Amino acid sequence: MKDLEALVGRTLDAIAASTDRAALEAVRVAALGRKGTITELLKSLGALPATQRKAAGATINDAKRAVTAALETRRVELEAAELESSLRSGALDVTLPGRGQAGGGLHPVTRTRLRIEAIFRQAGFTVAAGPEVEDDFHNFGALNIPPDHPARAMHDTFYFGDGRLLRTHTSPVQIRAMQRQGVPIRVIAPGPVYRRDSDVTHSPMFHQVEGLVIDRDISLAHLKGVLTGFVAQFFERPRALRFRASYFPFTEPSAEVDIQCVLCDGAGCRVCKQSGWIEILGCGMVHPNVLTACGVDPEGWQGYAFGMGIERAAMLRYAVNDLRLFFDNDLRFLAQFNRG
Ligand code: FA5
Ligand code: MG
Repeated sequence: MKDLEALVGRTLDAIAASTDRAALEAVRVAALGRKGTITELLKSLGALPATQRKAAGATINDAKRAVTAALETRRVELEAAELESSLRSGALDVTLPGRGQAGGGLHPVTRTRLRIEAIFRQAGFTVAAGPEVEDDFHNFGALNIPPDHPARAMHDTFYFGDGRLLRTHTSPVQIRAMQRQGVPIRVIAPGPVYRRDSDVTHSPMFHQVEGLVIDRDISLAHLKGVLTGFVAQFFERPRALRFRASYFPFTEPSAEVDIQCVLCDGAGCRVCKQSGWIEILGCGMVHPNVLTACGVDPEGWQGYAFGMGIERAAMLRYAVNDLRLFFDNDLRFLAQFNRG
């Protein structure tokens, strides 16, 4: 029993010395666990003569109660201390000054679209819009694209099950604008277009801006004049452009316009595929079949149309060498366009 007093003393000291709950638990197991010192003493009671058993049992149980109470008290203390320290370490000083916020900016493609719109508005164009989900008639049929034309092939066009499709160019807005406003007409129509096409220089979604002018006396010279003036204003410095004969079902004659590569000044580089030129748009005189499809008499009216790639224009204006940069949304790239 003298040993018991010493044992309780040591256990209470160990409890007081425990600085965390794991250490406290170790003390509890050592004293009160299944093989603990006090547990072993209680187990040994059976070996005592019956006369001593009762008194010894009471003494050991008192010791057990004292140790249990001390454990409980210490547990509460340690929990309070742990809570206190976790609150302190997670403290948030709301009076500290902020880290500052960088101003946002327009995406370079949006910037380029607005710039293109401003230039054409000055030239007397209004801005029209059309749906991105189109039907076959507006995207193809009315544009004189016969059913077996390659542009209709599945690899170019995203189709919905019901025959509708994602427009593959902004040209359907020519049709909608003529149907809505009639002629004479002088509009541009910017917006997203979609093609099943994805590689280094092609993105499945990109932007075009359509232009359409129909009047009594419009010729190819007007088209060349407007596009030449546009390029001069858009790039703010002389940029060579060339008209290259081409083919579109909805224009006749047709041309594609190339701009001298801004990255190599025409010397030839990776971006212009060593040609010194980058295609920026397709254009031509609106085909009589297109006018007829819109209820416009091709004997009395004619005009031109063009479709320009906005990402291409942005690449050329900002000398960006990879079209995909416009779609990666890397802030280090985008933030460069926020000044002026
Ligand atoms: C057309 O889409 C015709 N609708 C253009 C047109 C309109 C011709 C009116 C005549 C009259 P094309 O597929 O070539 O044509 O595309 C026109 C321009 O869009 C290209 O010159 C290029 O600048 C841009 N473009 C085409 N494909 C992509 C692409 N995958 N990614 C980025 N820009 C593209
Ligand atoms: Mg082309």
